Amino acid sequence: MLHDSVMHKDVDAQRVTDSNITTDSSNPATQRPLRVAVIGFGARAQIAEHVAVARPGAHIVAIADSNPDGQGRALAAYPAATIHPSLDALIEAHRSGDATIDAAIVTTPDNTHEGVAVALLQAGIAVYLEKPLAITLEGADRVLTTAAETGTALYVGHNFRHSGVVRTMREIIERGEIGEVKAVWVRHFVGNGGDYYFKDWHADRSKTGTLLLQKASHDIDIVHYLASGYTRRVVGMGDLMVYGDITDRRDRTGEVMPDWFSFDNWPPASHTGLNPVVDVEDVSMMLMTLDNGVMASYQQCHFTPDYWRNYTVIGTEGRLENIGDTAGGVVKVWNRRHDWQVDGDLEYPIEGVTSGHDDADLLTMTEFFDHLVDGLPTLVSPLAAREAVAAGSLAAASLREGSRPIDVPTLPAHVVDYFTRRTSSPQSAQTTLGRTS
Ligand SMILES: NC(=O)c1ccc[n+]([C@@H]2O[C@H](COP(=O)([O-])OP(=O)(O)OC[C@H]3O[C@@H](n4cnc5c(N)ncnc54)[C@H](O)[C@@H]3O)[C@@H](O)[C@H]2O)c1
Repeated sequence: MLHDSVMHKDVDAQRVTDSNITTDSSNPATQRPLRVAVIGFGARAQIAEHVAVARPGAHIVAIADSNPDGQGRALAAYPAATIHPSLDALIEAHRSGDATIDAAIVTTPDNTHEGVAVALLQAGIAVYLEKPLAITLEGADRVLTTAAETGTALYVGHNFRHSGVVRTMREIIERGEIGEVKAVWVRHFVGNGGDYYFKDWHADRSKTGTLLLQKASHDIDIVHYLASGYTRRVVGMGDLMVYGDITDRRDRTGEVMPDWFSFDNWPPASHTGLNPVVDVEDVSMMLMTLDNGVMASYQQCHFTPDYWRNYTVIGTEGRLENIGDTAGGVVKVWNRRHDWQVDGDLEYPIEGVTSGHDDADLLTMTEFFDHLVDGLPTLVSPLAAREAVAAGSLAAASLREGSRPIDVPTLPAHVVDYFTRRTSSPQSAQTTLGRTS
């Protein structure tokens, strides 16, 4: 069983997770600029640009990428940093004391997250790990267990929690404008799916497990966040309906997505140069029952013309729905009785950037450093990241096994306790900055 306070948590309980680092004026590591590494220098490594803004003085001193093109991109972006050909080499330099690292931003492909995170945590290097936490539930539990056993800080970059649209929806719910949440329905129109997910490793199950992790782990996390519960039973259904029929394939090792992205790639069947292996589904649907009785659904399609997410949250006294998911969009609330009506009874503009998620990325990076150095509570939660992996990976197992319902197993109690302890009393936490093993 999950600890009660986790099973039936409320928003506050979700805010704080592994506050194992507090401000410590006697710790020299908090007195000097933070030394930060990046592991994997592909498309997503651009979030490293937020490091110096998020925590003045923090700077990129080392980068590891296993591919020569990645090493070249790293050197061009950070000429003063040490570029390593492997994570092992970076950790070796850290351990020898030649080039200690305080924290690492991990932006490698999903199937490597588990091994990379475990190695960094064991070396005493605080980890900012891109989502998903891992591509299997066992892998996710291994990362959390390692964090608990080493005491090294772990943060999972579920940046969507910091987006304007999610903050607006959450605030509407917190103000009680739709009553008690009972159902959450999410439709995900992944209009850029062909370019984003079918021309490199993302299309290969052995690298991603399922796009219900790579893509939907954000939304499953938000379903949990908006509903204040975690999924305990899932059913999935889906298929590879369009991209599997495209026979034009090529290995793009060394390239990154902006090298081939184009809005001219339309209709979806006209895409060329897909990854040699394409075996993830391009339509996936899942149903979830949460521990607090909330029912949820998530649908994802990778060949729509438009690219956005649409949430409907239905409560006992109304419902909300977002139209658009960046600035320029709106969250509408209907909470009076009437026939259909385009206008909401209440409407809230969505704040932030008009496209992409740079604003949420900066807030997420800032939260990581505020947590790491100052011990501040976090809105993003490693336990919640695990529950997103659990629901997504088991939904994929269900859809590949004839839509069999699957129950989500719980974490070992000592791991839940580790994170929950820090949830309830972050002020008693200890710093691990600069720690090595
Ligand atoms: N939170 C978000 O909004 C968001 C957005 C985009 C991507 N991501 C995540 O970022 C991660 C990276 O995605 P990407 O699009 O940048 O991939 P990418 O393929 O563009 O880059 C991956 C890089 O990692 C390197 N690499 C691979 N294995 C390595 C290893 N073992 N050690 C060191 N380097 C290694 C590759 O050479 C490459 O340079 C993924 O996990 C993805 O889910 C998150």
